[in-house]
Amino acid sequence: MSYHDYNIIILKSPLMLWEGSFVAKKDDLYVGSSSVIKSGLKDTMEQGFTAVRPGFRGRGLAQAVKLLVAKHARSHGVKSILTHNGSQNEAMLRVNEKLGFVKRSRVTSTEPGWLRFGA
Ligand SMILES: CC(C)(COP(=O)(O)OP(=O)(O)OC[C@H]1O[C@@H](n2cnc3c(N)ncnc32)[C@H](O)[C@@H]1OP(=O)(O)O)[C@@H](O)C(=O)NCCC(=O)NCCS
Repeated sequence: MSYHDYNIIILKSPLMLWEGSFVAKKDDLYVGSSSVIKSGLKDTMEQGFTAVRPGFRGRGLAQAVKLLVAKHARSHGVKSILTHNGSQNEAMLRVNEKLGFVKRSRVTSTEPGWLRFGA
């Protein structure tokens, strides 16, 4: 996703929940983030976008920031979190499966191969 799209789809979204989204920092550098948005479903939130700066990948950062999102959501009464995963995105699939997300069903999307998980 380009920064332009990220800015419009996530950062400027009226659904964005800033207080439940987390970033990882190394000194002054932002190295990872995971956002969460309102889902429209009762007691349910939806992951926005998770990303880790290339030089910092493979160290568990994606898992850590997504875990912080889940812990914060849970402590605020959220019962489930939905996340979408490109079927070719093996690293993200691995993270989601390790965190306990369970594949539910393919959702209608303009981009085939996106899956919906529920935890
Ligand atoms: C997906 C992404 C967030 C993962 O970040 P990360 O910090 O490297 O993730 P983690 O280190 O927490 O875990 C990655 C896991 O995937 C595994 N993995 C990485 N590449 C893999 C591959 N090609 N096939 C299978 N597993 C892979 C790693 O071994 C690790 O699993 P492990 O902990 O069991 O060893 C990062 O690659 C990224 O920013 N990608 C671009 C943005 C993106 O695609 N975001 C997802 C859309 S929401």
